[in-house]
Amino acid sequence: MKISVMGGGYVGLVSSACFAELGHSVSLIEIDEKKVEAINSGKPPIYEKGLEELLRKHAGRNLKASSSYDEVCNTEISFICVGTPSGPEGEADLSMIEAASRSVGESLQEGDGYHVVAVKSTVPPGTTQDLVMPTVLRRSGSVGGERELGFAMNPEFLREGLAVQDFMQPDRIVIGCSDTKAGDLVESIYERLNAPVIRVGLSSAEMIKYASNALLATKISFSNEIGNICKKIGIDVYEVMRGVGMDHRISPHFLNAGAGFGGSCFPKDVMAMIRLAELIGEDPVLLKSVVEVNMKQPIRMVDLLERRLGGLSGKEIAVLGLAFKKDTDDVRESRAIPLIKELKKRGAWVKAYDPLAVSNMRKVFPDVEYFKSAAGALENADACLIMTEWPEFAQLDEEFDLMKSRVIIEGRRVLLCGDAEGLCW
Ligand code: UGA
Repeated sequence: MKISVMGGGYVGLVSSACFAELGHSVSLIEIDEKKVEAINSGKPPIYEKGLEELLRKHAGRNLKASSSYDEVCNTEISFICVGTPSGPEGEADLSMIEAASRSVGESLQEGDGYHVVAVKSTVPPGTTQDLVMPTVLRRSGSVGGERELGFAMNPEFLREGLAVQDFMQPDRIVIGCSDTKAGDLVESIYERLNAPVIRVGLSSAEMIKYASNALLATKISFSNEIGNICKKIGIDVYEVMRGVGMDHRISPHFLNAGAGFGGSCFPKDVMAMIRLAELIGEDPVLLKSVVEVNMKQPIRMVDLLERRLGGLSGKEIAVLGLAFKKDTDDVRESRAIPLIKELKKRGAWVKAYDPLAVSNMRKVFPDVEYFKSAAGALENADACLIMTEWPEFAQLDEEFDLMKSRVIIEGRRVLLCGDAEGLCW
């Protein structure tokens, strides 16, 4: 099938490469010329496991990137994969969705045959129906039925670092559609994956994405709260959650207590959900608590450290792990950010190390001292805080002897040496 994809960010690029792998012919539209060039030469502008292999295989053949919308009218389906960042009140900013809808609409003035416009970006319920659909119909001149158009909402559930695997082996494919014909076309794209498909209304599909992220974030904050309680009474929350997660109704996933959730999705999507609820007169007490627990975890960690050291002013603190999770250089909403801010506020000197994320964190904190190894950051430090579950940290032990004393606090349970204190275990 001929597919066009709007937006060469992480979702658009991974989806394009995977669509190509499924045998489709993909036109990826991205306004950033540098990204277009990189993609066409088979080099992914982001790190994502397995993506480079797919690009090398398909770029210039059945995957072609361009900054022009010209090809859209020659495809059977277009996916909108542009970003939906947070607006000033935490709401989803839909300006890029609207702009992409306008451009898709305009390009659909040309060409003929049935075409489906599908939204993959995470958007609040109602967006496809009330914003994308009318914008595309108006701009394409199809309101009266010049070119037959269908609409769909097909959310992604891709984890950074595992996005290719999540795309190729999905738990489910959610398809919201305006009519059966549009749904059938979207479903046929995924035929080779042999995955369960659920067909729902457009707004339900949008809500499934938000509710999934909100529930996963809730599981994490729940585990953190239970962990905070457990620690006070000397119980290991990891033992507890192992027992809890064995109940098939709960599942063992996303019950790891620690410094909380970061990344470009959970914090933004939970806030957008809260804002959406408030705008329709609902008070989302549970979701607000999920955010509150998440904001407090890094501060609790600094409080714990301050109690251990008896004051932070002038102390050298090694922070190991800056990425919001392992296997990525992404620091967006990383729990290391509020933690470092608080350490600086209390007068500590921060010495940081991460295997991949130093250059991104340098843009956030140019005045932190960065090191090329964990040992470098640990040398002479008064204490060490672990913020990302990088496997290389698991083996650290003798390196801690380089510190003034072995005061080690973990925000992620990763170390094998026995003398680290957990944030909530
Ligand atoms: C998340 C979802 O997992 C994907 O399903 C979704 O498609 C994606 O957002 C999105 O909306 O695009 P991602 O942000 O890549 O994926 O990261 P996760 O692996 O979910 O981790 C998010 C954060 O939660 C990390 O900071 C991680 O350390 C933290 N976490 C995760 C915990 O603190 N405890 C856990 O048990 C699991």
